[in-house]
Amino acid sequence: MAHTITLIPGDGIGPEVAQATQRVLEAAGVKIEWDIQNAGAAVAEARGTTLPTEVLDSIKRNKVALKGPIGTPIGKGFKSVNVSLRQALDLYANVRPIRSLPGLEPRFEGTDIVIVRENTEDLYAGLELMIMPGIAQSIKLITEVACTRICEYAFDYAERMGRKRVTVVHKANIMKLSDGLLLESFRKVALKHPKIEPAEIIVDACAMQMVKSANRLDVLVTENLYGDILSDLGAGLVGGLGIVPGANIGKEAAVFEAVHGSAPDIAGKGIANPTALIQSAVMMLFHIGEHLAAEKIEKALIRHFQESPIRTGDLGGTATTVQFTDALCEAIART
Ligand code: NAI
Repeated sequence: MAHTITLIPGDGIGPEVAQATQRVLEAAGVKIEWDIQNAGAAVAEARGTTLPTEVLDSIKRNKVALKGPIGTPIGKGFKSVNVSLRQALDLYANVRPIRSLPGLEPRFEGTDIVIVRENTEDLYAGLELMIMPGIAQSIKLITEVACTRICEYAFDYAERMGRKRVTVVHKANIMKLSDGLLLESFRKVALKHPKIEPAEIIVDACAMQMVKSANRLDVLVTENLYGDILSDLGAGLVGGLGIVPGANIGKEAAVFEAVHGSAPDIAGKGIANPTALIQSAVMMLFHIGEHLAAEKIEKALIRHFQESPIRTGDLGGTATTVQFTDALCEAIART
């Protein structure tokens, strides 16, 4: 039976990597009926909103979505559609595996970190105001409820995936109340999971440890902003934004998307690396129970990077998105 899944191609390189991902899923034999929905600047003029209600209705109905990146104007303009979507659907856990792929040269062999980022509050709550000309205020909103559920998610995830340690990343030495709440919640939740080793690290020290010895870190749980920054740092350690996937998980729905943005500098040139969205789709396949197809694509990706020089420019190659996708589909057929 075919799965019905919402597809938001997004903008910039989004449609290019989304099309590549659809081809790869088809090559792996998964039957999907795509419910295609558009959001972002492209629909704003016609619809008067960047996030039309039918996009949210589609995801609520289908429970699962695959999403390309959507650009957000810097310093002005509309609120991030990505943030609004996560808040509207209460997709509270943003899971980002930072894993080196065999065949690519990571900074450290065996890097296998999972960042579990709280996705609904912190400085992303959108509480900003100009107190007076020249003085701006952004409110960092942290609640015990959100801290507890993200820590619970991280420990449950660690148990489910056979991981050993969960480290909370914070700055409670300075933000004693807000980050203190995260730390306190983490310690309480840790007591309920005796099989998993709990650890604590300050966010700046964590950044240094990721650069010096990333392969010693396991599951990290943290707030929205720290998680955002550390995921890009992690991407840089394992081959770049072109390969790192992500999932936004809630109780009612899940939206799978790459860590990277719309990459306006290379959009429309046909040279984007679709691996990050393909790996996000692999996470999606595991989520919907299509384990065989997910494993097939995973094996084909490893095989491809180990055996073939066909790779996009961000990984040092000269292949276009389509050439890379053709080669990966061939590898899937041989797997
Ligand atoms: P970006 O991730 O789009 O690009 C950063 C750099 O990485 C660029 O040089 C880009 O060419 C490269 N890159 C990214 N993905 C790539 C891929 N798949 N293949 C090859 N190279 C790739 O970050 P940037 O430039 O800061 O943001 C651009 C726009 O994307 C902004 O409007 C931002 O708000 C939005 N954004 C959207 C996200 C989402 O939809 N979840 C996440 C992050 C940013």
